[in-house]
Amino acid sequence: MRINKFLAECGVCSRRKADQLIDDGAVKINGETASIGNDVNVDNDIVTVNGKIINKVKKYDYYIMNKPKGCVCTVKDDKNRKTVMDYLPADIKRVFPVGRLDYDTEGLLILTNDGDLTFKLTHPKNEVPKTYLVKTEKPVDEQDLSKLRSGVVIDGVKTKKCNIRVVEKLKNGTKLHITITEGRNRQVRKMFEAVGNNVDFLKRIKIGDLQLTGLNRGEVRRLSAEEINYLLNL
Ligand code: URA
Repeated sequence: MRINKFLAECGVCSRRKADQLIDDGAVKINGETASIGNDVNVDNDIVTVNGKIINKVKKYDYYIMNKPKGCVCTVKDDKNRKTVMDYLPADIKRVFPVGRLDYDTEGLLILTNDGDLTFKLTHPKNEVPKTYLVKTEKPVDEQDLSKLRSGVVIDGVKTKKCNIRVVEKLKNGTKLHITITEGRNRQVRKMFEAVGNNVDFLKRIKIGDLQLTGLNRGEVRRLSAEEINYLLNL
């Protein structure tokens, strides 16, 4: 197998980045500095990147988690807070959270070692719809809804059009579903702040048509083959 493909399949980086690492002299095959286009025998050769041995990942792994609030979407937090990785059973290794949910946001999170899928789901140009259940602090009126749907200015830039469906009107707020196609920092919270409200509960319930069902907070399961195919073809 070509060395760049091998590194990509091991979840180290994309093929293009692998070529860069090879060019930089960071990659060795059996102790010899690799060149672009070299082949590796995946069963016998020892490949290192910056001195670290790379083990073959047989195939990619894909998990869905119901992220609880009170943890961060990183592999290791520099402030030593709890991370989503703390919720993974010990036998799940080498997967990474796809994109970010805030510390206080819960819900659907994908974890994988497939860099291409990560790129597909997170790159803004792909506009993958993500749906959230929101409970606001104060009631949201029709005027606010229409502003939010057509776009409000956050961090100096107007948000794209989005879909909002009111689920329940409460005395102290509104429950609604909002579907956005951008993934800006704290976007949903900031959108409601822009109309003078606050979000006091936020949960991602869908990515595209992939739903978060049947998982309690903090639980994780493998995605089915159908679900993986659906995401890969988004
Ligand atoms: N919007 C937010 O404000 N927070 C999230 O975690 C996701 C979307």
